This record gives sequence, structure tokens and C-alpha cells, in this order.
Amino acid sequence: MTEPTLETISNLAKKRGFVFQSSEIYGGIRSAYDYGPLGVELLRNVKEEWWRTMVQLRDDIVGLDSAILQARQVWQASGHEEVFTDPLVECRNCNARHRLDKLEDPDTCPTCGKTGTFTEPKPFHLMFRTHMGPVDSDENLIYLRPETAQGIFTNFENIRRTNRLKLPFGIAQVGKSFRNEITPGQFVFRTREFEQMEMEFFVRSEEADEWFAYWQEERFNWYLGLGMTESNLRIRPHEADELSHYSVGTVDIEYRFPWDWDELEGIANRADFDLRQHAEHSGVDLRYYDQDTDERFFPYVIEPAAGATRTTFAFLIDAYVEEKVNDETRTVLRLHHRLAPYKVAILPLSKKEELIGPAERIASELRKRWMVELDVTQSIGRRYRRQDEIGTPFAVTVDFDTLEDDAVTVRDRDSMKQDRVSIDRLLEYLGERLG
Ligand code: GAP
Repeated sequence: MTEPTLETISNLAKKRGFVFQSSEIYGGIRSAYDYGPLGVELLRNVKEEWWRTMVQLRDDIVGLDSAILQARQVWQASGHEEVFTDPLVECRNCNARHRLDKLEDPDTCPTCGKTGTFTEPKPFHLMFRTHMGPVDSDENLIYLRPETAQGIFTNFENIRRTNRLKLPFGIAQVGKSFRNEITPGQFVFRTREFEQMEMEFFVRSEEADEWFAYWQEERFNWYLGLGMTESNLRIRPHEADELSHYSVGTVDIEYRFPWDWDELEGIANRADFDLRQHAEHSGVDLRYYDQDTDERFFPYVIEPAAGATRTTFAFLIDAYVEEKVNDETRTVLRLHHRLAPYKVAILPLSKKEELIGPAERIASELRKRWMVELDVTQSIGRRYRRQDEIGTPFAVTVDFDTLEDDAVTVRDRDSMKQDRVSIDRLLEYLGERLG
């Protein structure tokens, strides 16, 4: 078994309809992608699993869906307007632009290979700008949010009050963010439009270290629980010069991507930076009042911030397996059942009406519970191969014996083992395995 390359994964993603380039019929625009029928299911499942573990299964975290467009003051208070930049250098020889801190050799242009040709680094602003309303004036300037987190901080008091929350508690949000990245790339890894899954956990300052350690473990285990290979995951603390302007300590959960280890999720101790800044800029008192001690203070914040699109990509890479079966190579996506786009495929052995009828009836019954694909084209072998390649855990074959014994053959994606199951037990059989 060889490890998949970036090209293998991006080809599969395009061929099977997981991901397409945005505006492809016009030649495509760089760094924005469209999630096709399978990709949107996988991405939704990743986000739903995050929401289930971070919000549904806990009594100390609530959810939020805040607006992408926010007052410009939000980004002035948060520090983004001033410092959310990356160092940009331009090669005097070939005019290519690069992000200095991501270059392997900061003196050599990776595009033309020349050394000593870079201009002085300039801070390049990462926030997309636009104007609110019909007039393109400076007063109407607003930004597309570069992180979902600020919507949480500006709603801190609304949510605390309306939900009568006591420390420690968290607010979770999933949604789009935008960054005008200097060097987007590696397929959907670094894009200019992407989705984040972020949670701000508010704690007393003296408990911050404990919660920081707690969230590292919780988040690491989340990836393992969804089947990610442990040896492909690691936690890397940031060096002091890597820290974001708001952070007093950050670790990254990194994945071993085909090119190298790279960030999947950041877990930061943002101290009381954000609430303090918003209180100062807005004039609204955002301190927490502790009734027991009669004290008012700014809580600290521990923030696990993951990329939904990037995580989806990592799950796709991790699930990809090529294996030899009877001298043939079989490609399988061994996605965790909860992440697989389709849970069950219904495959009538022939296109004859007598098989299509029962196959449709089974499909419409199972659809009430799971995403199901009814596939009637091509040979059964090719259809199995397609389902393996898109990660469908179970394939149900309706054959001519079905007409006699009211039973179907259920094939398991990973073991390829087949069971004969009576139709009236099928829901229970699949339920036991899919949950
Ligand atoms: N609120 C903190 C924050 O935004 P970050 O480390 O800049 O922290 C969190 O972003 C996560 O968002 C990253 O770990 C990554 O998974 C994802 N992310 C950031 N920039 C991205 C981009 N350009 N494309 C895809 N995902 C991105």
C-alpha cells in the first residue's frame, strides 16, 4: 500500500464529484472550490460530528450563527485591521510573490530558483474589503470576517445573559471565513474562502492552563474517534515568535499531509484579550459578574479553532487506501461510517423491472434514515468499485433469488464479506452496524 499523493486525492475528488474548482467553465478561479454532491455530504458530516461532540453532547457549550458582515469597529478592536498581515516578498527576477514565513529558503525564489532576488518584505493585509450600501466611501468600508471567533466575543454578554450561563462555559460556531492568502494552494488546504469550526471556552484565569490541556486532549481524541490514523497526527506547540497577536500560548494539531506535517487545528489561550478590547472600544461592560464572590472580571478564553474544509480534506486523505485483491488494485475510502457521504448503496443485479421495483422500495425505506444511493448502471463489479471508491460502507444487492427468498446480499466495504439478509431484517441489520 502506497501513501496517496496530493494529485491522487485531488483527481479522485474531481472524478467522483467531491470537489470542483470554482467557476471552472471560465477557466476557474484560484483558491475557491465548490463541493459537489459527495463533497457536500462529507463536509456536512464533518461539521455535524463536530457540532454533536462540541454542543449536543455537552451541557457547558451553546451554539451561535453570527453574521459574516460585522461593524468595522469589531476588526479594529480585535486588532485585525492593524496586524492581520503576512510578510510578502516579490522576486525581482520573475515577479512571483511569496509569503516569506512559508519559504523553505528565505533567500531563494521557489518559482525561478534565483537567490538574492527578493524585495524587502512588506506586510500584506489578509482581510477582504468591501462596502456596505450604495456608496463606495471609506465610512462604508467593511470586511469579510477572517475568523468566526469575533462574532462570539461580540455576543458574549447576549448569550451569557439569555442563557443564564455560569463559568466555565463555551460558545461554538461553524461558518465561512475569508482570507486573501498570498499563496493559497495544496488543493483545498489553503483557500481564500473556507469554513471554520471554532469554540471559545470562557474560564477563570487561574483555571486557564488546566482547560488549555483539557481541550488539547479532547480535540486530539475527536480525530482519533473518527478513525484518523494516530501516527498521522501530532501536537506541536508554537514558538514565541509564531504566536498570533491575541495569544499567550498556542498548540497546533498537525496532520501528516502528503507534502509534510501541517496545521489542522489551532488551540490557543487568548487570555482576556478579546473581551477587554471589545469592552474598551464599545464602552459596554463585558466583565463577568460572579455572584458568589461579588467580583467582576474578564474571563480568559481557551479556543480550539479547526478548519472544516481542511479537516474534511485530511479525512479524505487518511481514508484513501489502494489494496491488491486477486491481482487487481482496489481503491477504497475507509471513511468512518459517520463521515461516509452515502451509508448504503442499493444495487439491483439487472435493469429488469422485476428487480428495479423491490430495489426502489428498499431504497425509499432506508432513505428515511440514511443517505442512500440507488445505482442501476454498469456491471455489478464496476458498481462495487465505485462505491468502494466513494467510501459507502454497505452495498445491498437485489438479485433474482430475492424474488424467491425475500432476502438481499449485503457487502461490507472494508472486509468485502457478504451476508444474506432477509428484507424485513435489513433495517435492523444495518442499524446495528451504522448506528
Ligand atoms: N480564531 C482563530 C483562528 O482563526 P487560525 O489558526 O488562523 O485561528 C483556525 O485558523 C483554522 O482555520 C486553521 O487551523 C485551519 O484549519 C483553518 N484555516 C485557516 N486559514 C485557512 C485557509 N486559508 N484555508 C483553509 N483553512 C484555513
